[in-house]
Amino acid sequence: MAEETVMSGMRPTGALHLGHYEGALKSWLDLQEKHSCFFSIVDWHALTSEYEHPDKIGKNIREILLDWLSIGIDPSRSCVYLQSKISQVAELFLLLGMITPLGWLERVPTFKDQQQQLNDRDLNTFGFLGYPLLQTVDIVIVGGTIVPVGEDQVYHIELAREIARRFNFMYGDTFGEPKEFLTPIPRLPGLDGRKMSKSYDNAVYLRDEAEEVRAKIRPMKTDVRRQRRTDPGVPEECPVYAFQRAFSTPEQQAEIAAECPRAGIGCLDCKEILIANLNDFLEPFREKRRQFVNSDLDEIIREGNRRARERASQTMEAVRAKLRL
Ligand code: TRP
Ligand code: SF4
Repeated sequence: MAEETVMSGMRPTGALHLGHYEGALKSWLDLQEKHSCFFSIVDWHALTSEYEHPDKIGKNIREILLDWLSIGIDPSRSCVYLQSKISQVAELFLLLGMITPLGWLERVPTFKDQQQQLNDRDLNTFGFLGYPLLQTVDIVIVGGTIVPVGEDQVYHIELAREIARRFNFMYGDTFGEPKEFLTPIPRLPGLDGRKMSKSYDNAVYLRDEAEEVRAKIRPMKTDVRRQRRTDPGVPEECPVYAFQRAFSTPEQQAEIAAECPRAGIGCLDCKEILIANLNDFLEPFREKRRQFVNSDLDEIIREGNRRARERASQTMEAVRAKLRL
């Protein structure tokens, strides 16, 4: 069997935070060590819901690219590219549209969910309904079979598999069958204990500078029992401790777990430990980002686009032959 290819993508909707790192990017880094990978900035997908604000998308492309590069996505190993520069994606989207039953798209759980959640805009569009088909194309056009995604995307990958199978069945083997590679649900909550998310304004961003990290951690709410320095607390019910679990050493965690319940450590001191560790964790990313900011990002993405286009055009030759086009 041929070597398997990894494919995944992210919409350029803003700076990436620690939740993205834990939930997705860490898995990408692992996979990058073992497989040939295609990572796409899916700006067309962003346009399916942000079609009224295309200006926002452009600015975010550079940001997400810098975020990826700063955490160690290596453009000399992995193909990093911009979806909208691969015109073959649009062509295959049209062709696979011919064999995609409407019911399969209407049944996608995220379709109705998102329409209801994002009710400030009209998502009753052909493009929005086609979102998962466009995702299918992203994957199969570069031969992706391993698709790192979160739980919420599993149905999309099942759909991709069904469409690939349908095509193979009707016209003969052409596409590999995409399989989801489930990435972990981030254990790390946001600064306020809810899910980390830009819309809750409770995120630590991969690009935050040391002072920003400090300014975010210091005012964090701690266990409500600790009104005064002498009040004992319960670490398990403190959002700061959830961060300690992710970023502090086992010894530090053990010490806090022992001292907090007998008021042996103050919350400010506890936070200082976290601030130092979090900044140690982020510093290598900052360093890499500084290197890449001064490099030719356009050239990096152009080279990725070229490689992706090459792979996509091979796929399209096979597809056109099968369809007698
Ligand atoms: N739909 C994915 C998301 O919202 C993004 C995405 C687009 C994607 N194309 C993809 C993910 C291809 C994996 C493979 O997160
Ligand atoms: Fe939370 Fe640390 Fe304060 Fe305990 S000492 S309540 S773990 S911040």
